Amino acid sequence: MSHVVKVLLLYTTHEKQTLKIMQRIKTQLGDKCDCDVIQLLPDSHIDLTKYQAVLLGSSIRYGFYSKVMKKFIDDNYQQLNSIRSGFFGVNVVARKPNKNTPETNLYTKKFLAKIAWKPTIKAVFAGALYYPQYNWFDRNMIRFIMWLGKGDTDVTKPVIEYTNWTNVDEFAAQFYQQVCAPSVLDGIKQ
Ligand SMILES: Cc1cc2nc3c(=O)[nH]c(=O)nc-3n(C[C@H](O)[C@H](O)[C@H](O)COP(=O)(O)O)c2cc1C
Repeated sequence: MSHVVKVLLLYTTHEKQTLKIMQRIKTQLGDKCDCDVIQLLPDSHIDLTKYQAVLLGSSIRYGFYSKVMKKFIDDNYQQLNSIRSGFFGVNVVARKPNKNTPETNLYTKKFLAKIAWKPTIKAVFAGALYYPQYNWFDRNMIRFIMWLGKGDTDVTKPVIEYTNWTNVDEFAAQFYQQVCAPSVLDGIKQ
């Protein structure tokens, strides 16, 4: 049997857009990788030693990536730095072309500067809004923030998706080539 790379796709989410992006990446990796898609929760026990490559994804809420994800990274950065890895962030500011890279998306730039893990590759994707699903406070806060940024404020739309799936597919291809491909991994571990 041919050797298939074991990959962890670990995410945090509120309305599942980060999960949707992870699932798309898993589909793109296809049978080239054996992927476990796992939601990181406060009581999760993740055994990183089972994996040859790791991708972490997290979304922004009121200016910050998930505390649970931050803690996981702080607790495991040495192990994470010893394997090939990737990170992607999800937020609505990234719908703007000048704010959609890890360097130009301030949440992501600050987050990456604050952690000791140095992912091999990084990306930021625009997320989605589900106004009718939010509680009164969140709906009005997000609507106000979107209004300030000249964005969509129609709270009756069930979903407003900004995610550029072509960008996600390109990242998945890059993740495979730079993080998971056997040629890359063979060069590291013998
Ligand atoms: C309560 C709330 C707060 C949010 N705060 C921000 C924010 O500060 N900046 C931003 O760019 N996006 C913000 N967003 C947009 C989310 O990042 C976006 O909806 C993303 O798709 C959520 O991904 P998830 O479903 O995986 O959690 C917020 C969304 C909600 C519902």
